Formats: sequence, structure tokens, C-alpha cells
Amino acid sequence: MSEIGKNIKTAVDLLNKGQVVAIPTETVYGLSANALNIEAVEKIFKVKGRPNFNPLIVHTYSIEKISDFVKDIPKNAQVLIKKFSPGPLTYVFEKKDIIPKIVTGGKESVAVRIPNHPLALELLRNLDFPLAAPSANPFGFISPTTALHVNEQLGDKIPYILDGGKCQVGLESTIISFLKETPEILRFGGVSLEDIENEIGKVNIKVDLLNEDPTSPGQLKSHYAPNHKLIIGDIDKLIKENMFDLDRIGIISFSKIYENIPKINQKQLSISNNLDEAASELFKVMRELDKNDIDIIFTENFPNQKIGKAINDRLKRASSDF
Ligand code: TXA
Ligand code: MG
Repeated sequence: MSEIGKNIKTAVDLLNKGQVVAIPTETVYGLSANALNIEAVEKIFKVKGRPNFNPLIVHTYSIEKISDFVKDIPKNAQVLIKKFSPGPLTYVFEKKDIIPKIVTGGKESVAVRIPNHPLALELLRNLDFPLAAPSANPFGFISPTTALHVNEQLGDKIPYILDGGKCQVGLESTIISFLKETPEILRFGGVSLEDIENEIGKVNIKVDLLNEDPTSPGQLKSHYAPNHKLIIGDIDKLIKENMFDLDRIGIISFSKIYENIPKINQKQLSISNNLDEAASELFKVMRELDKNDIDIIFTENFPNQKIGKAINDRLKRASSDF
């Protein structure tokens, strides 16, 4: 198993040697390595079991640094960077030559983000290079929101997990591309569409669940899959219509409690119906339910606003009914 700790120096030493280290961010844990070192980045793909055409996000610590890695930052992108970085928003721009193609899956563009987590920022400030990092889960699985989640799935493959506690946002960053005249949202996440459009006006949405040749692997159908079959709908109806033994049904609800279902098999994401709280609980709860002795998971559509859009997106990807 990996060593888990809060020691920045240990992480710095390993990363300087070209090793892979799991790091906390405010969204989910990342599997990081020196973004400018091809062999180090190759290790990320190997540990994660990720196809090499899937590009990685480059993480840095300051707005000024972003310009070292990308060619042009349009005005509306500058507005968003000022407003939301550090934070759960990732920007896609044309890359400079300093970023190796292995990081970008062969593309001429690169995704960059400044994570809003004190340990991650301190680590980045202590390095002479940015960190390439996908979410720290094996390809196709749910992203980790605690150091223990990382250890459970990748513990035998990486030397160190920097422990920054539970991720506050709990879902991945929103991705916005500036490669075209009108910005395009490629993934819903921690910064809402409403908040983005409030700053820069209408953007295009290019989040395609069924895309077979995705520009974002977050768009692959099997992504975020729990081991159990998951169905989205009216939970009461789903319970009635399906012939499952009540003791073998798992439930993920916003706040409602279901009297006939064993308490340990039902998870309320936010008793006070708070979408941010629900988002921060979702992946953890999916993992917990996956360990229970059940046959099926029923869940519902969340209010499709603010971070609720990202919650519904992740649930759809985890469900087997599309
Ligand atoms: O919150 C997050 O974004 C987390 C933390 C660790 O920062 N990272 C994360 O990385 O979710 P990953 O690799 O699991 O997802 C990154 C997404 C992928 O869907 C990838 O295709 C997309 O970003 N991406 C990266 N570079 C891209 C590019 N040049 N053009 C389009 N999409 C890109
Ligand atoms: Mg991921």
C-alpha cells in the first residue's frame, strides 16, 4: 500500500525524481507527475490504465504561470480566470511547445487549471514544473474524494498519497474550451453554467454522453460506473414497479427517507436539500453503496440547476439505462 501523509517535502522529492504522487484538490484527488517530463507522464497513463489519446489537465499555482504553457488567452477567458481561479474551472487553449504532446493526447491544445486547495498550491509553489494530473482512479471508475479512496484502488501502484482530507467540491472541474470563437463547455463540474454565463454571456454546450470518439474521456459512456446497476427515476415508482427484495435495494436520494428500505442501504445526499452538499457526497456514497450486499441502486433526477447539472451528468454516466 502507498504511504499516506501530509508531508510536502516527501511529495516534492518524489515528483522531482519523476515519480507519480496522488494529490488532493478541491474537486477530486489527482494522480500527478511532472508535466514537462515525458517519462514521468507515461507513468500516469500506466498506473491509471488510461488510453494514451486521452489528454491530461496541467495544474499550476498562479494566473501568471498559465501564460507559460498556452499561446493566447482571449479576453473572456481572462475574465473567467480572474473570477474563478484558483477554483474548479479548467480552461482549454492552444498549447505552447513546452507542453509535451503526451500530456495532450497528441493535440495542439492543452487543459490548464489552478486547483483551490492549500496543500496542492503549496506543493505546486515548491516545484519548478507544473503537474499533469487526471483524477486518481483507475480508468472508467468513480473519482476519489479521500486519500483512502485512492489507496483502495491504486495503493499498490504509487509510492505516496498527499492527504488533504475530504475534497470539498467532490465532483471534477468544469471544462471550458476557448479554441473556437464562442467558448464551449466540454464537461459540467464545480463551476456552474449559470455562473460562467453571468460573467461572459452565452456559451455553447458540447457535453455529449454518447459520443463514441470523445474529445473528453469524461464523456465515455462507462465512466463513473459503480459495480451495481443504477437506475434513475421516481424512486417510489421504481421500488413498486421492480420486483426486487426491499432488503436488497440501495437508494441515493436528495433528502427523502424511504421507510421500507434498510437504513444502511439508503443515502441522503443532503437532508437540507443543498446541491453543493449533495455534490460533495455523491462519489463517496456511490462507493459506500457498492460495498453493500444489494442487487440494484435507485436514484432520482436532481434539480437541473447550478451544480445539480454536474450531479445529473455523473448519475447518467453511472446508470445503465442510456
Ligand atoms: O477536477 C478535475 O478536473 C480533476 C482534478 C484532479 O484536477 N481532474 C480530472 O482529470 O478530472 P481527468 O483526466 O479525469 O479529466 C480531465 C478531462 C478529460 O475528460 C480530458 O479529455 C479533458 O479533461 N481534457 C484534457 N485536455 C483536453 C484538451 N486539450 N481538449 C479537450 N479536453 C481535454
Ligand atoms: Mg477522471
